[in-house]
Amino acid sequence: MMHLISASDLKREEIYNLLDLAARMKEGRDSYMDALKGLSLAMIFEKQSTRTRVSFEVAMTELGGHALYLNYADLQLGRSETICDTASVLSRYVHAITARVYSHEIVRELARCADIPVINALSDMEHPCQLLADLLTIRECKGDLEGLRIAWIGDGNNVCNSLILGSAITGMNLSVACPAGYEPDARVVAHANELGSSLLITNDPVEAASGADVLYTDVWVSMGDEEEEEERFRDFSGFQINSDLLGHAKSDCIVLHCLPAHRGQEISAEVLDGEHSVVLDQAENRLHAQKALLMTVIPCQCDG
Ligand code: CP
Ligand code: NVA
Repeated sequence: MMHLISASDLKREEIYNLLDLAARMKEGRDSYMDALKGLSLAMIFEKQSTRTRVSFEVAMTELGGHALYLNYADLQLGRSETICDTASVLSRYVHAITARVYSHEIVRELARCADIPVINALSDMEHPCQLLADLLTIRECKGDLEGLRIAWIGDGNNVCNSLILGSAITGMNLSVACPAGYEPDARVVAHANELGSSLLITNDPVEAASGADVLYTDVWVSMGDEEEEEERFRDFSGFQINSDLLGHAKSDCIVLHCLPAHRGQEISAEVLDGEHSVVLDQAENRLHAQKALLMTVIPCQCDG
């Protein structure tokens, strides 16, 4: 059984196998309709979601299985049943759990107690499912991953942390530009360095974006950070992906955003909706990447 809590749970070969399977599933979208027939996925959500929720639910439908949307607050979890008891009981009903939670510790505790695979659908620390779709999108556009120059502009939190680990595992050269005080988690950076990462962390967006094959950003105010909105708007000004910054990247640079986006904040409308942007392909790829992930982690009788 394999959990996906952190991008670092994935080895290089596993990532490539997942991307290859996702690409085949994208090509023949209706070819795997019985792969998870009769199997169920519990989806626990403590925060809002559009892409993650819908792509997981459609993924299970397209694989012949079933997904249950479970609002955290509506579960007995919301009335202080323990995470461990919840994980143990769900393990008697369903075949995998995905969870979007504030604290990374919750998804780790679910994995510790469950007898079934647990998938992190976004925590304060990581977003490994997003990483898989990002890598699929980059590979589709650029042909390979190794040696590419990726520039992250913005908050060094969950999506960025998974990208740091994913870049280290796949051999991409990542430059992260964050305002002072918003740098990525030190443990994630240390882990990436152990994996042989060529990570650059800077407070200068132009330094990060120069010569980049890929520019990537995320919201300035993540779910859970709303009380800091005013301060963040001040701190992140100058960390916008716009035409000026794009001008420092390679001429065939692609622009990624995990979405939801805020035009005029972390990215200009001109760039988000412009010719370099592949954000809709990236969002679509959440579905294909997660179908591949579900097929891989859920024990099944499928031939693949
Ligand atoms: N990128 C992403 O996870 O989107 P949602 O918050 O809509 O799921
Ligand atoms: N960093 C964002 C990602 C949303 C998909 C957040 O945590 O809200």
